Amino acid sequence: MKIAMIGTGYVGLVTGTCFAEFGHHVTCVDNVEEKITTLQKGDIPIYEPGLDALVAKNAAEGRLQFTTDLAEAVPDAEAVFIAVGTPTSRRGDGYADLTYIYAAAKELAEHLHGYTVIVDKSTVPVGTARQVARIIKETNSAADFDVASNPEFLREGAALADFMRPDRVVIGVESERSEQVLREIYQPLYLRDTPIVSTSIETAELTKYAANAFLAVKISFINEIASVCEAVGADVTDLAKGIGMDGRIGSKFLHPGPGYGGSCFPKDTLALMRLVQEYGENLRIVEAAVEVNAAQKARMVKKIRDALNGSETGKTIAVLGLTFKPETDDMRDAPALTILPALLEKGAKLRVHDPKGMEEAKKYLPEGIEYVDDAYAACQRADAVVLMTEWNQYRALDLERLKTDMKELTFIDLRNVYEPTSLTSLGFNYVGVGRK
Ligand code: UGA
Repeated sequence: MKIAMIGTGYVGLVTGTCFAEFGHHVTCVDNVEEKITTLQKGDIPIYEPGLDALVAKNAAEGRLQFTTDLAEAVPDAEAVFIAVGTPTSRRGDGYADLTYIYAAAKELAEHLHGYTVIVDKSTVPVGTARQVARIIKETNSAADFDVASNPEFLREGAALADFMRPDRVVIGVESERSEQVLREIYQPLYLRDTPIVSTSIETAELTKYAANAFLAVKISFINEIASVCEAVGADVTDLAKGIGMDGRIGSKFLHPGPGYGGSCFPKDTLALMRLVQEYGENLRIVEAAVEVNAAQKARMVKKIRDALNGSETGKTIAVLGLTFKPETDDMRDAPALTILPALLEKGAKLRVHDPKGMEEAKKYLPEGIEYVDDAYAACQRADAVVLMTEWNQYRALDLERLKTDMKELTFIDLRNVYEPTSLTSLGFNYVGVGRK
C-alpha cells in the first residue's frame, strides 16, 4: 500500500518508518527543508532508541522516502496521514493549536487523486476530522475521500516496541471503504492478534484524550498517596504492589515521582479540560490531577530543601537526569524545568548531568547551571545528589565511590530507584518519595 505521512516529528517519523517496516511504501513530507535534508542524509533529528537503524534499513530497501513536496507523496497515496504538531495554543488558554492541521489539510487537498483516506494521527480535539473534511471539500470539490481518526499510543523511548506490539489499535471511521483501507494498513499486526477497535470518528478522537487523561490521573493519584505514606510512615512501593496486583487497578503507571511531564500529558489534559468546558461541563478529576501534578513539583523542591537542613543556599546539588523520562532527549514540560530554577533562585549551586538531554536542557533552563558529561563528575564534593530521571546508567551507581567523592552524604531519589538500605548502610541520608 502507498502511504503519505505529513509531518516528520516524533509521531510522523516513528509511524511512517514502522509502516514501511510492515512492507508499505511510505513517503514522509515536511515543510521544514532542513529536517528533510537531514533525513535524506540518513540522520535522525530526534533521539529514539532503534529508530535510526529502522529508518536506514527501510530507506535502503526503497520503502521509505522523504520530501518537502506534497505533489511527490499525495497523488499516489491510498492513505494520507496527518501527523503535524498540535501544541498548546500560544494564547495560553490551554486549547490545542490546530493551525498546522488545517494548513496541511488545505495543502494536501489539491494533490488528491483517486479515492484516498485522510487520517488524523495527531492528537486533536473532537470535531477536528470533520473540519479537515470541510477544508478539503472547500479546496477541491472533486476530491474523492473519507476522513478517519487513528490516534497513537506511543511512549517516547519505547515507541518502536509500542508500535509493533500495541495493546490495541483504535480506528475512527465513517465508511466501510475507509475501514478496509485502515485494516489493510495494520494487517501485519493481525498475526499478533492485536485487537482493532473500530469506532466513530468522534469516539476515536476522544479516546486518545481520555487515555492520556486517565494515565495522568493515575500518576497524580499515586503521587498524592506517596505523600500520605510519608505522613503516616507507610511505604508507597509496597503499597503500589499491593493495589497494582489487583487486575482491576493494574500495576503500570503507579510509580511516584517528581510529577509527570513531556509533550503529551500536560498538553492533552489541558486541551481536554478546555474541550469539555466548551460543552458547559467540567472534568473535575482531571483538573485535580493537573493541580496535584503542579503541587508535586513544588513538593519536590521542599523535599530537597528539607534534606539540606532547611536551606539550599550555597549548597552544591548534583542533579542526575533532566529529561521528563529516560531514553529521550525531550525536555518539554520536564519536572526539572520547574524544580531546578526554584533551587537556583534560593542560591543553590547546580551541577547537572543527563545522557541525552543536556543540549535541549540548555535551551530551557536559566543560566548559571554547570553541565558536566559524567554522572560522577556531577557528584564531586556535592552536598546532595538528586536523582531526577531514572536513566539505566543511574540505576547501579558505584555508591562507595559516591561516598568518597561527595562532601555530604545526602541522596534524594525522586524515582525510588534504590533500596533505601543500600544507601543508609553506607551512611547516606536517603530520601525517597513516599518511603520512610
Ligand atoms: C504518553 C502515553 O503514555 C502514550 O500512550 C501516548 O501515546 C503519548 O503520551 C502521546 O500522547 O503521544 P509519553 O509522554 O511518551 O507517552 O511518556 P510516558 O511514558 O507516558 O510518561 C509520561 C510522564 O509520566 C513522564 O514524565 C513519566 O516520568 C511520568 N510517569 C509515568 C510517572 O511519573 N509515573 C509512572 O508510573 C509513569
